[in-house]
Amino acid sequence: MMPPLIEVRGLRYCYEDGTRALNGVDFRLERGETVALFGANGSGKTTFVLHLNGLLAGEGIVEVCGLPVNPQNIPEIRRKIGLVFQDSESQLFMPTVLEDVAFGPLNSGMSRQDAVERAQAALQTVGMSAAAAKAPYHLSAGEKKRVAIAGILAMDPEILVLDEPTTSLDPPGQGALAELLVRLPQPKILATHDVPFARALCDRAVFFQQGVIAAEGPVEDIVIRFGWELALERSKLRR
Ligand SMILES: Nc1ncnc2c1ncn2[C@@H]1O[C@H](COP(=O)(O)OP(=O)(O)OP(=O)(O)O)[C@@H](O)[C@H]1O
Ligand SMILES: [Mg+2]
Repeated sequence: MMPPLIEVRGLRYCYEDGTRALNGVDFRLERGETVALFGANGSGKTTFVLHLNGLLAGEGIVEVCGLPVNPQNIPEIRRKIGLVFQDSESQLFMPTVLEDVAFGPLNSGMSRQDAVERAQAALQTVGMSAAAAKAPYHLSAGEKKRVAIAGILAMDPEILVLDEPTTSLDPPGQGALAELLVRLPQPKILATHDVPFARALCDRAVFFQQGVIAAEGPVEDIVIRFGWELALERSKLRR
């Protein structure tokens, strides 16, 4: 039997300052699935996704395509999982946008010409071709996000993990990203506060609460159960 794409059992992680960010997370990603990670600020979503490609290493079991995430397997696992960080600043580091997006393919051994072609195609996909020669640190927040997404698409990973992908994108950009992701065949994990985005893309949702997954189910059920869409309306803020 094929193992699940991602299997996490009993994952615990404590930051150096003593913050217990994960307190026993159990999670599976099956083939063909797109799953939303919901949960309040600080509930552990980002800490969780950073374990999937070995950027953090807690206690418990984390396996990708049957491979334990350990130093020996990390290079292979990072080819399988494309992770777009919540903070795109920390993802962009080359002098130009094109170099940045081509970095992954080049680093994985592709010829310069092939890597540049991949990068150009990925930039086109996210609507950032015109910025190819710009310095990433001169881009707006939404533009940085798009370039970071292009950098992952250029690697053509088997699984896509996006942490708050719609943050800083303008409404047309959010729509375009949703349409782009729907067309991509890869299974996906989307950590997001954007309920319409999750509803449009995800087969199910899990809900993080204080470092554990407190519930999982169809997106709509989770949204209703945790009042996840109506909080702003309920705040009685009126002008
Ligand atoms: N580098 C760090 N050092 C210490 N504590 C941290 C660090 N990074 C995160 N934390 C803490 O770990 C907990 C989980 O944070 P995490 O970033 O995983 O939450 P999140 O669910 O992604 O939140 P958000 O919705 O705001 O993105 C929080 O209490 C946070 O303050
Ligand atoms: Mg986060």
